[in-house]
Formats: sequence, C-alpha cells, structure tokens
Amino acid sequence: MEYHQEEMDELIASLPKEKAFLAPSLCLYQNFWFPITVLPNIITFQRHFKAKDNDIVLASQPKTGTTWLKALVFSIVNRHRFNPSNTPLLASNPHELVPFLEFTLYANNAKPNLDDFPEPRIFSTHLPYSCLPESMKRSNCQVIYISRNPLDTVVSSWHFFKSLVRPENQPERSMEEHFETFCQGITGFGPFWDHTVGYWNESLEKPHKVLFLKYEDLKEDVVAQVKRVAEFVGLPFSLGEEKEGVAQEIAETCSLRKLKDLEVNKTGKFMPNFENKSYFRKGEVGDWVNYLSPPMVARLRSIMEEKMSPFGLEF
Ligand code: A3P
Repeated sequence: MEYHQEEMDELIASLPKEKAFLAPSLCLYQNFWFPITVLPNIITFQRHFKAKDNDIVLASQPKTGTTWLKALVFSIVNRHRFNPSNTPLLASNPHELVPFLEFTLYANNAKPNLDDFPEPRIFSTHLPYSCLPESMKRSNCQVIYISRNPLDTVVSSWHFFKSLVRPENQPERSMEEHFETFCQGITGFGPFWDHTVGYWNESLEKPHKVLFLKYEDLKEDVVAQVKRVAEFVGLPFSLGEEKEGVAQEIAETCSLRKLKDLEVNKTGKFMPNFENKSYFRKGEVGDWVNYLSPPMVARLRSIMEEKMSPFGLEF
C-alpha cells in the first residue's frame, strides 16, 4: 500500500514527540521512539519489504557495534569471493556494503527492487523486532542482533552526536542531559531495554532464526564469535579454512585499527550528514568510567536490573 503525504502528515501530527539531540525530533510509534524524518521510510519498509528465506538481516541499536557486525558478516558470507587483499571493505564503508533498510533503501518513499541483490542478501535495520515487516518474521530469513552494555552505549552515542555538525543556534548538549533522556528511554529506536529484550526473547524462543551477540563478547574473543556467526548462517569454516586461519584473517581485516585507517573511512560519507570517521572511535569496553559519575552509573544499573535482568539478560 502506498502512503500519501497527507496520511503521513496526519499520522505524525497525532504521535507524541520529543526533541532529540542534534538529530531530528523523535516520535513515539508502535511503542518506540523513531526520528520523525525516518518514520515515512520505516512505514514504507514495513509495508513493502518481502523477505526471502535466505536473507540475513543485521539488527542493532545505534552505537552498539553495527558497523563492526556489518564488516564481519559481509566478510564471512563472501569469503569465497574475496580475501583480505581484494575485499570491497578496502574501498567502501561497511554501511555501503550492508545497507540500512530504513535509512538507505527505503529512503524518500522509494520502493526499491531488491530482487536482484546478490544472494544471500544482507541488509541491516535499527527497527525493534516487534516492528519488523511480517514477511521477515514469517519467512526463514535469519536475524543477527548485536547489543552492548548500555553504559558504554550512552557514552558512545554522546560522542557520536557531538561529532555531527551542529546547527548554529543549537548549543552542545552535556553528557548529563544526554544521559537523562537515555534513562527515560527517549533515544532513536529506544527505549534501549525494550529493543534489546525483544530480540533477546526471540533468540531464546527461535535460536535458529535470531542470533543474539554482545559487543563485549566480540571484544573478548572475536574469532570465536566469527565462527559462531558462520555456523549460524550455515557456512561453518571447513577443516582446511581452520588450518589456514581464515576466521583469524577476517577478524583482523575487520578490526577497528584496520578499518579506521582506511582512506574511505577517514574521509568518506555514507549519508549526507554522516561522516564515515564518526563510526570508528575507541572501541573499548568500560570507557564509561571516564564519563559517568557514580550516581549516574547506579541509576542506569538499577534500570538495567529492573528492565533486563528479569529476562536473564546481563551486561
Ligand atoms: P565507541 O564510541 O565506544 O568507540 P555503531 O557501529 O553501532 O555505530 O557503533 C559504533 C561503536 O562501535 C563505536 O564505539 C566504534 O568505535 C565501535 N566500532 C566501530 N567499528 C569497530 C570495530 N571494527 N571493532 C570494534 N569496535 C568498533
């Protein structure tokens, strides 16, 4: 079903709204906060996307390791076509190789023909599980979700927004202000906990459909997680590949150090306001100690305990 501008304007006018940090305002739709400017794309994506059974969808919230996951999954799936010396990652940002459905493919009310995408098609989205198009839920397409400790996520997103060009009349937002809205759940694609718990529960219920990864586990042993992903998508490493250290090679090619150093990621842009370099910062676990006061940490920890621990989800 096409949407008409009038219908969209009416819908947006009827939704609760909040001002966001630098980004466009957020509106509450289907229980989550979405950038107002992206909502039309989301609705078109929800209405028109037809999943194929062999699709791989990478899902995440902003600043939880999306870029890393894209580089890794692209490399794992395409490892018989490309090696470290000819991988397209050398010339393209991971977000170009694995496009966002709502930011890129369905932008500007486009209805892209995605039938000709090389298979298996790899797409990405920040949408919560409950908001995914029905065909994604009903088909056998697989979803790989990455999450991250909210303490590090809130710090990472503060740095990210600070790195964007600020309109002249907009003052810089303090970490305290940014933290406050995060704790209220008012972040793009948030509340953080509802998004994470949604995918977590699906991964427990349908382990062949949804793989739940944590940024921290990748940091601890990326090779083990690369092998886990390869098995999940039905492309386990052969004995020969094990001997040749292919998983290690992929991990190295996709390391923060390697990607950050590439010309394309130092200078390029993948969307008009988003410079590739903003996606590569420190990549550390526990960087929050440098930015959050003990009361802030206690507050967020108590929210995590209330909203995520009851489901067995700990960071
Ligand atoms: P920090 O801001 O903590 O450094 P996203 O890709 O979802 O936007 O997440 C960005 C975060 O992932 C940033 O975290 C960024 O530095 C980190 N990151 C990006 N590429 C990475 C990689 N190859 N390895 C590890 N971390 C990476």
